[in-house]
Amino acid sequence: MTINRRQFLLQSSATLAALATIKQRALAKALEITSIKDLYKDDFYIGTAIGDRQMHEANPKFMNLVAKEFNAVTMENSMKWERVHPRPGKWNWELADKFMDFADKHKMFKVGHVLVWHSQVPSWVFQDEAGKPLDKNALLARMRGHIGKIAGRYAGRMNSWDVVNEAIDEDKGWRKSPWFNIIGPDFMDYAFNFARETDSSAQLVYNDYNMHNPGKRAFLVDYIRKAKKRGVPIQGVGLQGHVGLDFPDISEFEASLKAYAAEGMRLHITELDLDVLPVAWEFSGAEISASFEYSDKINPYPNGLPAKVEQQLTDRYVEFFKLFLKYRDHIDRVTFWGVSDKNSWKNDFPVKGRTNYPLLFDRNFERKPCYDAIAKLKI
Ligand code: G3I
Repeated sequence: MTINRRQFLLQSSATLAALATIKQRALAKALEITSIKDLYKDDFYIGTAIGDRQMHEANPKFMNLVAKEFNAVTMENSMKWERVHPRPGKWNWELADKFMDFADKHKMFKVGHVLVWHSQVPSWVFQDEAGKPLDKNALLARMRGHIGKIAGRYAGRMNSWDVVNEAIDEDKGWRKSPWFNIIGPDFMDYAFNFARETDSSAQLVYNDYNMHNPGKRAFLVDYIRKAKKRGVPIQGVGLQGHVGLDFPDISEFEASLKAYAAEGMRLHITELDLDVLPVAWEFSGAEISASFEYSDKINPYPNGLPAKVEQQLTDRYVEFFKLFLKYRDHIDRVTFWGVSDKNSWKNDFPVKGRTNYPLLFDRNFERKPCYDAIAKLKI
């Protein structure tokens, strides 16, 4: 029997559709028995961040999902200075200890976040009892005391510490934080040395955002070279990875991976999430550091993501994961900054009360298409 061209095309597309369905089913079946962490186990750890509330409530659905899908964990807030050490001599260990126990139970790679940062650190840290600014030696003693206590508590258990966070300003060199202003540019050397004297085994990492920025890259590479000559025990660079649909330029991101790896640094993608919402300052014309008023115009998807944007999100994640796989020999870990879109900080930054879609799981903790696409790269 002969068939005409139209029948042939119809049959072919039916076959293709059937094949696609079979592939989808095979993928779904594969994903039932495996997880993203298992699919990438020969490449790098797949991590997530756990928020205070999630750790406190320890909702079994959430905790089981974390244990199933991820093999590296970071506390989103509870190990930051203001949370764990809010007043002189006052330490809150409850959530941090709980986190360590949970991660140990599931044999996860544990990341301590963070020892020295200009944000979420109380102002008393930089002042004496009379409220006057501390001098260099007094602040160094305080830094050493803090690091000694928290890194000491978990020494031998913690796999990696974000020792210093966000110390470099794009194109301007050192951020003029109280750490820099009081101690000077060697504050970072001190922090790494104090971390190492306390914990001889954890991997010690510098962590920052916008790591694709050429100015930041050049400054950090220069620091690493000189610091290594001085014997500073810096071992890794954390690229936070708060990215969007069209920023950063992926070739700049790659240039940074390459540059840090060439300095012998282990690479960690530490806080990955993908913003799909309009960039607020483009609408307000304000500076990046300003806070932004909510308006419906900058919250376009309150009831769900249109298919077209969902596809863009998925494609962009795939683009990044292809890059991560290319650098798999240098990358130790890719950590998402949260589990579900429901709990992402991206719903409230830089504008409060928006509906964002940056992570692998939706608001009901179901896998999103971006999850399947990332998984598919390994199936
Ligand atoms: O826990 C309180 C709650 O009791 C209170 O009712 C509520 C009122 O706003 O605030 C809650 O605390 C918030 C906390 O997140 C937990 O949700 C803080 O206000 C808020 O400032 C805090 O934001 C965190 C932010 O760091 C602070 O700088 C985000 O969760 C956290 O994701 C974010 O993480 C940082 C990394 O540490 C470093 N890199 C950038 C990244 C994003 O900013």
